[in-house]
Amino acid sequence: MWVGLQSHSLPVGVKTFIKITGLTHIYNQGQPGERRALSGVDLTIKKGEYLAVVGPNGSGKSTLARHFNALLLPTSGQVLVDGLDTRNKEAIWEIRRRVGMVFQNPDNQIVSSLVEEDIAFGPENLGLPPEEIRDRVKAALEQTGLTRFRRHAPQLLSSGQKQRLAIAGVLAMHPDCLVLDEPTAMLDPAGRKELLATLDALNKTGITIVLVTHFMEEAARAGRILVLADGKSILTGTPGQVFAQAEILEELDLTLPAPAQIARGLKRRGFFMPGPIIHQEALIEAALAIAGGSVSADKGEVALITSGGRSEPASASHPGAAPTQEYVIKAANLSHTYAPGTPFEVASLKDVSLEVYRGDFLAVVGATGSGKSTLVQHFNGLLQPTAGQVTVCGLDVTGKEARRNLWRKLG
Ligand SMILES: Nc1ncnc2c1ncn2[C@@H]1O[C@H](COP(=O)(O)OP(=O)(O)OP(=O)(O)O)[C@@H](O)[C@H]1O
Ligand SMILES: [Mg+2]
Repeated sequence: MWVGLQSHSLPVGVKTFIKITGLTHIYNQGQPGERRALSGVDLTIKKGEYLAVVGPNGSGKSTLARHFNALLLPTSGQVLVDGLDTRNKEAIWEIRRRVGMVFQNPDNQIVSSLVEEDIAFGPENLGLPPEEIRDRVKAALEQTGLTRFRRHAPQLLSSGQKQRLAIAGVLAMHPDCLVLDEPTAMLDPAGRKELLATLDALNKTGITIVLVTHFMEEAARAGRILVLADGKSILTGTPGQVFAQAEILEELDLTLPAPAQIARGLKRRGFFMPGPIIHQEALIEAALAIAGGSVSADKGEVALITSGGRSEPASASHPGAAPTQEYVIKAANLSHTYAPGTPFEVASLKDVSLEVYRGDFLAVVGATGSGKSTLVQHFNGLLQPTAGQVTVCGLDVTGKEARRNLWRKLG
């Protein structure tokens, strides 16, 4: 089955950058362990596009990615990069300069003992003059937010920073396209967030991005998603179009992003959902319409959605809450910072305020790494606020004694 949905959002007339026709890849052909990884894949990627490639394990994502810069060559079919055929030996270096690859494990991509030397490695191999190399290194450091680490040893960087260093090394080659094969798989939420923001920014400068990912939340950021299954392209379209095919994705064990899942559940229960819901903000809007105002969100970091149908708003951001109602949980200007004062410092919650009343049903939604678990762990006293206050069943959860009492009351 192949479902070709209305194509991506780039205007017609934009130049084709990669054109793949009938691509089949067979590993170990004619030998023991022969394995067909791709079967007749057709794909066109336009200049400046942001394409996400998703699919179950073994569906051929990495194999396809390696064809984009001639690390693998077709068993049959054709891959053209900016008009250059990957089977043309003379074109290979030009293709690899135009399409840079970033892999899953950042440790395997480091070649030097100093950040700026690592970035300079590629341009040096191109034999560029020293001033040109210096300019490129400087620009790549800025584009990836690593300028202040330029004299650091790469081994001492966090995984997220190392991955941005790998991107900087590729950027210094002035590529037209970045292909990233599960670049966030080994990163913590903060590193993941920074890396994805870097990709968004690079795409805005006109660089074509191909992101292979297991995370549907990440794929949702792309302009277009390609779904692979068993070496075939089975679905392609905008994130909204692809996530609307929930049955196909479910069959492949691909989970919809959390906001899309919640929206689907609400729709099934008869609630009106306007158009495709992919991002947290759209879900909040829709929930707000359903609940008639009982929704609160801290400044876009964590969104807290209370059940619809309550006569009184449940959120502290609505000063009209009935004074007679008894609240069970109250958070006032709650902030939480992990590992404060260390290089791993992450501000997970920032100034969150909310009230949950007796009998409330509260859903906490937010993207991966937005602080959902951190928030909830304050309600049962597992975490202590860095700033602000949390009261549960009338008990301030700061302090050992209060927490012991709390654990007797809470599930
Ligand atoms: N070097 C190789 N030699 C033989 N078979 C391989 C090789 N690399 C991959 N394969 C096989 O090709 C198929 C596609 O693999 P590929 O790594 O492209 O999938 P993937 O979608 O990237 O999977 P994952 O989600 O696990 O990264 C799989 O069946 C895999 O076992
Ligand atoms: Mg893979």
